[in-house]
This record gives sequence, C-alpha cells and structure tokens, in this order.
Amino acid sequence: MPKRVLFVCLGNICRSPAADIVFRELVKKRGLAGLSCDSAGTSNYHPGKKPDARMSATLEKRGYPIVGTARQITRADLDEFDLILTMDDENLHNVRKLARTEAQKERIRPFTDFCTRHSQKEVPDPYYGGQDGFELVADLIEDGCEGLLNDLVTS
Ligand code: 4NP
Repeated sequence: MPKRVLFVCLGNICRSPAADIVFRELVKKRGLAGLSCDSAGTSNYHPGKKPDARMSATLEKRGYPIVGTARQITRADLDEFDLILTMDDENLHNVRKLARTEAQKERIRPFTDFCTRHSQKEVPDPYYGGQDGFELVADLIEDGCEGLLNDLVTS
C-alpha cells in the first residue's frame, strides 16, 4: 500500500502543514509503513518558513510535534504524489490549472471529502482571523486525516 499524499493550501504555513503534522502522527501511531506525506502552497509567499506560530501553538496544545518548512507546489508534485488534497476551492482551482494530464487531474481532490464528522466543504483560511479559526482548522484537519487514513487502509 505505498501511498504518498500532498496537502495543499495557499501559504503552506497554516492549513496544509497542520494536515501534514496530524496525518504523520496518525500514521506513526498506527505503525503503518508505506504511507507518507508532505505539504505545499499554491503561492510562494513564505518559502522556507516554519508553520505559523498560532497554528503551531494550537497543534502543540493537542499534543502534536511541529515539523515542516514552507514551499510552493511544482508541476512535478502532480506526478510524485498519489493524492493531492486541497484545503479550499481556490486552492483546488489553482492546482487543477497546473495539471496537464487526466491522470494528474484525477489525483487532485478536496481534503474535506474525507471528513466524516463535519459537513464543511472547505477548510477556511485562518490567517487574518482569531484563535477560533485555528481551532476550527485543527478540528477539520483531525477529522479529515482520520477519514483519509481509514479510507487508505481499506482501499
Ligand atoms: P494557509 O494560510 O494558506 O493556510 O497557509 C495563509 C497563510 C498566509 C497567507 C494567507 C493564508 N498570506 O496571505 O500571507
């Protein structure tokens, strides 16, 4: 079951690194070999930066170790990853624009497709908001990552 998952948001400092951190930890806890992940942004706003301090604090409170360095998605990612999961509709649109083949397009999906406890269709951008936004991101990310893992181990 070798599967590589790429989580994508706009800045790659809040939502997609959060998904990378949470999914990594779930995979580690369940001792699953062959599942790996990374994250990237559609923008090049924050290359080389660590996750946003507010996102990191929210995740640390929930017990997650903080890892990751921001980078922009490249066209090569569309071949290197089996699944590319976008956080909102704008990210989805922009990543789809990079795709050149049907096979690449089929690998790109909204992250919230894997949520089972929340009905939101997007993970809202928390960057210009308050702490509530970061808690909502963490809730949605935990839900979707659990759903994703269950989906991957049963498929
Ligand atoms: P992210 O959040 O896409 O979840 O990493 C953002 C981070 C930075 C900016 C926007 C959203 N920004 O405009 O710099």
